[in-house]
Order: sequence, then C-alpha cells, then structure tokens
Amino acid sequence: MDTLAVDTSVKDEQDFMPILGTDYVEFYVSNAKQAAHFYKSAFGFQSLAQAGLETGIKDRQSFVVVQDKIRLVFTSPLKSGTEIGAHIDRHGDGVKVIALWVEDATYAYEEAIKRGAESYFEPRKESDEHGEIIRAGIHTYGETVHIFVERKNYNGAFLPGFQKWETYYTPAPTGLKYVDHMVGNVELGAMNKWVKWYEEVLGFKQILSFDDKDISTEYTALMSKVMSNGNGRIKFPINEPAAGLKKSQIDEYIDFYEGAGVQHVAVATDDIVHTVTELRNRGIEFITVPTTYYDVLEERVGKIDEPIDKLKELGILVDRDDEGYLLQIFTRTLQARPTMFFEIIQRKGATSFGKGNFKALFEAIEREQELRGTL
Ligand code: FE2
Repeated sequence: MDTLAVDTSVKDEQDFMPILGTDYVEFYVSNAKQAAHFYKSAFGFQSLAQAGLETGIKDRQSFVVVQDKIRLVFTSPLKSGTEIGAHIDRHGDGVKVIALWVEDATYAYEEAIKRGAESYFEPRKESDEHGEIIRAGIHTYGETVHIFVERKNYNGAFLPGFQKWETYYTPAPTGLKYVDHMVGNVELGAMNKWVKWYEEVLGFKQILSFDDKDISTEYTALMSKVMSNGNGRIKFPINEPAAGLKKSQIDEYIDFYEGAGVQHVAVATDDIVHTVTELRNRGIEFITVPTTYYDVLEERVGKIDEPIDKLKELGILVDRDDEGYLLQIFTRTLQARPTMFFEIIQRKGATSFGKGNFKALFEAIEREQELRGTL
C-alpha cells in the first residue's frame, strides 16, 4: 500500500454524484436538550430550530444548532421502544446521520440505489409555509446513514416540521466554519469493503492511504484510507484496526460503540489559536502531546505564521505537506463512552490530514486508554 500517495487515476470524468456540501450531522443522544446546550456553551453554536411535542411530533425531540456552515441536530426519543432509543442503548450517544446537500435528492438516491446502496428511506417531499424539501436516505457503515437533502425550494430555518428555536442564551461563536471531514471507524478487515462502497455507490475517489507502518506506535496500529467526492467538499477517511501488541484506539471505539460508526467530526477554523483558546476557556478538554513535540517543531515543518510558544501552551499540532501546512488538535471523547470526538483544523494550504502527528498523537491517546484500562 502506498503511503501518502495521491491517487492519479482521478480523471475529469462526469461526476455522477455531485454533492454541494455537508447539510447537517444528526446525533442520537439520551438528552438532546442538554447536548444542544453543551454544544452551544462549549463550542459556540447558536440555537436554530427545534421539533417535538410543540410541533406535533410525539415520539422524539430534536434541537438544531448552527455555527457558520455547520448544523448539528440532537435527537432523543420521548418514549421507550423506539428505533432511536435502541440506537442509543446499543451505541451510546453518537452520530446517526451524515446528511449530504445535493441539487436533486431523488436523482442522488436513485443513482446510489442503482449502484448498490441499501435504502434507509425513499425520496419524500416535506413541506411547510417556507417551501419544500426533498430528502432520501441510504445506509452506510454500522447503523450510520446518509440522507440526501435537496433544499433549493426552501427558505425556512431548517426543515419542514421544525420551528425556529429562539433563546435568550446566545454564547459567542468560537470561529468554527464548516465540516472539513468526518472519519468512520469500521471493523477489522472491513476498510476496503467501505472504500469500494464509497467508490461504487457515491463515486468517491481514494485520495490518500496510510498503513500500519505510518500509523503505529510501539503498541497499537491502524490503517486508514481517505475518500473524497468529486469536488473535494466531502472527505471521509475510513479507519480499521491493525494488529498491534495492545488494543488500538479503533478497537476501543468499536468495543464501546458496539460496531462501526463515526469516530470524529473535523471542523475548520480560520484562527485555531483563537478557537482553541475559547474552547478551553469553556471547558473543552484536548488530547495533549509531550511538550518535547515543540522542541523540534520548526525543524520538522519549517517557518509558520503562528508563535510556537502559543501552540505549545494550547497543545496545537502542526504538519506540512507539499501544498502548505495545517494546524490541528483533537478533543478528548465528548460523551460517557470513549467513542466520538471533535478535531479542530486550520488549513494553510495543506490538503492532507496530519500524518506527521500520528505517532505523537496516538501515543497520547494510548496514555488516555491506559487510564481507562482499555489499552
Ligand atoms: Fe481528522
């Protein structure tokens, strides 16, 4: 397997699955009201919309928050015996839906089904006084789904069925702009199956791959392939565990999530020093590497705009590729189970994912696993 090999087979053939961007990310959580409050207060999201008893929905309550182009939906069941409840029982709080914004949801769904996708739900028109939306869904890894969203004829707050959620509490944004990429963890041996699925069903291309020689420490290893859609707006790295002396972070995720699922959501900022300072002040905890990381940083990545002592103070990591450099940092896991976390990333030309940080980072993650007794 090539390392950091950019796939040269990408041709300018017709993209059969044009995707405009990430429309929203929906989490099934045990307490949507509190989860929404957490993402508002700690990450600087704003109230956008809500649906539930007040809007005539009897079995679930959803709160939608927004920051620039990022929309997060938190949904909880209102009674026992629901599909949402079963999802939470099995996986804990986690990502259920990665919604993709498309021009034509019916077309996207039909193309995907024709190419082997399993249906989650058929195209349906949803409308209210603000217009209409067409949505359709397909299953991907684990119990995660993609929902195609066509919203060109809609100007409401979020989706039909939701009402504007107005609150007096509007904490300042932290500078988060858009979803840069979302990573899926799949079971041992399943990575290539899902790589093929994204190629065949959604027309994605593999743009990078990392093997256990790139991503291994003394104890643990993993493999990863990065899938991108035609215009590069959607990037889905897919990880699988590789054999190591101890249990990898991917194994730990799969044990606690009880299956494949979304490992992290990477959100972009234009000013990572500001964003991370804000997040820390609001209680977000990050994975930190030993300060020796910064002793050789400039040697490794060359001159950068940001003061190294500031990066060191905040624990921000830096990596460089042929096109520029990037700054990144990873939160600790964000719910009771050691499963999903967020990455904050600032790209200054670089289009890669921080391979140069993997070793330091994974050793740091192993120290966390050690504390949990799951290494
Ligand atoms: Fe990432």
